[in-house]
Amino acid sequence: MCGIVGYIGKKNSLPILIKGLKRLEYRGYDSAGVAYIKDKNIKIVKTVGKINNLDKLLNYNDESFIGIGHTRWATHGSVDTTNSHPHQAGSITIVHNGILENYQELKKILTNKGYTFKSDTDTEVLCAYIDYEYTKTKNILDALNNCMKVFEGSYATAIMVKDIPNKLFVMKKDSPLVIGIGEQENYIASDISAYADETSAYIILEDMEIGQIEKDNISIYKNKKEIKYNIEQVEQDAFDSDKNNYEHYMLKEISEQENLMDKLNNIYLKNLDKIMDISKYNKIHIIGCGTAYHAGMIGKYLIENYSDFEVNTYIASEYRYQKIFADDKTLVIAASQSGETADTLACIKKVKKYGCKTLGIVNVKNSSIARAVDEVIYTEAGQEVAVASTKAYSSQVYIFSLLALKLGITKGLINKNEINKEYEKLPSYISKLTNYDYEDIISKIWQAKDVFYLGRGIDYISMLEGSLKLKEISYVHSEAYQAGELKHGTISLIEKDTPIIALISDETIALKTISNIKEVKARGAYVVLLIKEDLNINIDKECYDKIIEINATDNLLQPILNVIPLQLIAYNIAKKRGCDIDKPRNLAKSVTVE
Ligand code: AGP
Ligand code: GLU
Repeated sequence: MCGIVGYIGKKNSLPILIKGLKRLEYRGYDSAGVAYIKDKNIKIVKTVGKINNLDKLLNYNDESFIGIGHTRWATHGSVDTTNSHPHQAGSITIVHNGILENYQELKKILTNKGYTFKSDTDTEVLCAYIDYEYTKTKNILDALNNCMKVFEGSYATAIMVKDIPNKLFVMKKDSPLVIGIGEQENYIASDISAYADETSAYIILEDMEIGQIEKDNISIYKNKKEIKYNIEQVEQDAFDSDKNNYEHYMLKEISEQENLMDKLNNIYLKNLDKIMDISKYNKIHIIGCGTAYHAGMIGKYLIENYSDFEVNTYIASEYRYQKIFADDKTLVIAASQSGETADTLACIKKVKKYGCKTLGIVNVKNSSIARAVDEVIYTEAGQEVAVASTKAYSSQVYIFSLLALKLGITKGLINKNEINKEYEKLPSYISKLTNYDYEDIISKIWQAKDVFYLGRGIDYISMLEGSLKLKEISYVHSEAYQAGELKHGTISLIEKDTPIIALISDETIALKTISNIKEVKARGAYVVLLIKEDLNINIDKECYDKIIEINATDNLLQPILNVIPLQLIAYNIAKKRGCDIDKPRNLAKSVTVE
């Protein structure tokens, strides 16, 4: 969500800004813009749509050695050129990621002081307020410091000041920002993937810090005092954004799950002693958003199989505001691919006040959530570029399975040798599912208006994930239902040929789900049945139109297999509908605002 870049140095800034913005494209945006200094004047170029639209408007002969850039994901004000960033007021030009929550109140104050506004954004108010403080204090660092005391909400900003043409400024709260360190040049970015080719050293700006960036010097301030900063190193191979001949990143990432399981076995299965022992807690809360929430729901089922306490999974945007029952015996687990999701991060900050221990299951190293938690287990999935999360999900479920596994082994409920064999078989089982020919199924359902997903218990959670995948990339309406709940309302929507995708992998309730499938079949539905092989039950052919058999593995690992056909069904439907699979409309990869 939103990308910020900046450059100061000896090279022409424009190509560097555009390159950085393109690398941050994966985060999701609807308009783009840059500001740069040319012959002491600040020039702004911005437009709606893709970065290529902006690129066409730029004059690369304009040599400039300092500039900032932005991809906007609109929160306040429609998607149009006026609302897109950079914004300017008086001496100040800025790009901003986040939401200034008290912008209306500040807008009133500024209007009374004579400021006028062109856009509907909160960002223009933020910009004007900095100018107001700068005019008063005549010192930009004091001005930014005063602003931070007044601003409510979240912001990562890169700032240019007209009469200080040899410096860039940054400040942040609750939205991410890093400073890349070069030789006689420095960079600004929302995350270091923007400039990982240009530099391997970077500084992570922390909340309420202000940065002053010159081409050969970086100073960081907090509460008006200059502070020391840590220099981080970019991990090799952290950013593999090559599509490797795949048509889409999503397909590449679905396929990578096979090798990923091997990688995770090597890193974690052999070193189970390094996995956190969760037996000493008396309560676990798992938090996450979207797909990470679904992985957390699976985690609840897996851990509860072996725990003596209740595990609850919560949607982070709800959890952060609801009454919670937690104390120092509560473990709070945050699942997040990006490690930057604003709601999830806010939950971690909240539970620290309750004395809870926090564990992050995170993909992006050194991300805000990874740094905020007491302990982190990295999902090691490599860069996930497609907005629709696939390999991050299966790796999160994998880590949850390990937490449960360790509990089960400690209690003598799991035979280590036998389960190890199942972990080792995961890649070949996944390969079978990725090589399956889904064409028959797709040709029957790709034009559907609605698709319903059915399952019970833990299978229902996989269906929530399957339904989300379909919605986000194909724009086909779909819902997942607990199979037994259908007749309490939703069954009224079933008519001839309505597609139903049903999953049965939990044998204890398989017969119940079969009865529910028969109910929809009797009303003309087209049923695709995903079923764990070797289930000891009799399924008559009349209750489905297509059947996909999934290898049977241990219950701890079954959800990792169950999701693969769901990912591929969603992918292939979206492809047939001609959708922009890797960058679905309105969505952002990294959701850094509430
Ligand atoms: C997944 O396909 C979605 N794009 C989305 O639900 C995502 O999982 C969610 O925004 C959470 O992101 P995170 O894992 O980076 O915290
Ligand atoms: N709230 C700002 C806007 O709507 C910034 C959004 C963003 O983070 O891109 O313009």
